[in-house]
Amino acid sequence: MPLAVRFDRYGGIDVLRVAEVDRPIAGANQVLVRVKAAGINPGEAAIREGAFADRFPATFPSGEGSDLAGIVEEVGSAVNNVKVGEEVIGFTDNRASHAELVVVESDHLVHRPANVSWEQAGALFVAGTTAYAAVRAVSLKASETVVVSGAAGGVGSIAVQLARNLGARVIGLAGAANHAWLTEHGVIPVAYGDGAAERIRAAAENSIDAFIDTFGGGYVELALELDVAPDRIDTIIDFAAAAKHGVKAEGSSAAANAKVLGELAGMIDAGRLEIPIAKVYRLADVREAYHDLAQRHTRGKIVLVP
Ligand SMILES: NC(=O)c1ccc[n+]([C@@H]2O[C@H](COP(=O)([O-])OP(=O)(O)OC[C@H]3O[C@@H](n4cnc5c(N)ncnc54)[C@H](OP(=O)(O)O)[C@@H]3O)[C@@H](O)[C@H]2O)c1
Repeated sequence: MPLAVRFDRYGGIDVLRVAEVDRPIAGANQVLVRVKAAGINPGEAAIREGAFADRFPATFPSGEGSDLAGIVEEVGSAVNNVKVGEEVIGFTDNRASHAELVVVESDHLVHRPANVSWEQAGALFVAGTTAYAAVRAVSLKASETVVVSGAAGGVGSIAVQLARNLGARVIGLAGAANHAWLTEHGVIPVAYGDGAAERIRAAAENSIDAFIDTFGGGYVELALELDVAPDRIDTIIDFAAAAKHGVKAEGSSAAANAKVLGELAGMIDAGRLEIPIAKVYRLADVREAYHDLAQRHTRGKIVLVP
């Protein structure tokens, strides 16, 4: 029987287990994918802890995971965009990708381009579409200056590169361990913490046109203090600050589709985008993977491989 991550109640990392489950069955418009890699995301930890229990309740036993890349194992009778044996990148909305086998809607899949590693492919969907939406939300023009908080994290590491590709000057807030990576990717690194506003102003030289917050905890207020217009600020996490100050809060749901996923995969294939892979864990080590993510110092993405 195939293995999949399961949890039976809301709770900490210790509620996660890897269980033998029934082989999933693809419906007419669905595809059964044998997973080669699947990214993990902080939102999954929040769901598991019950933080969204009123808005997005779990039904138990619950699976988890949205991101995936793998090989087509079976196709439903009405599927004509992929064939058995083809390599795909995709997503599921059913909390199910942290598994050996997952059923995916056929229109949630794109083909894996040759130059996209399994790990980058499997980690792409949530962080990639979120970064895409956040960068689009702040309407960057070439030579404008944008600040990104959490600049080397899962979403931030992609957002800074998308902003650079638009020709923007990008200032990335990150810990010292990530400054060299940011510099290598054309980003001006700035340390967060006390005095960050002064350091950002010094690095910007001229005006700061936009701010993308991927960390929360006061960065919306910092952006306003830096005189960034509210409609050029996007936070993917501080929804209270977004409501209070009228700034944008566009995240994954604004770009969660196969078209954007394919566009991002094409950028990786062409060498214009890199998904840094911080660490790869076996599916059986799912608890260790989330423990690592919970430290909040991941550079890029943590990936599970069945
Ligand atoms: N709205 C949506 O659709 C959506 C989608 C995806 C994620 N999210 C949310 O967005 C957040 C980021 O997700 P993620 O996957 O990018 O998380 P992540 O990979 O865990 O991000 C970790 C990053 O946070 C940085 N960081 C730690 N302390 C910081 C501080 N005090 N100030 C600034 N940066 C700090 C770390 O930087 P250093 O290592 O350099 O210290 C690290 O690069 C999460 O809260 C997640 O739930 C929302």
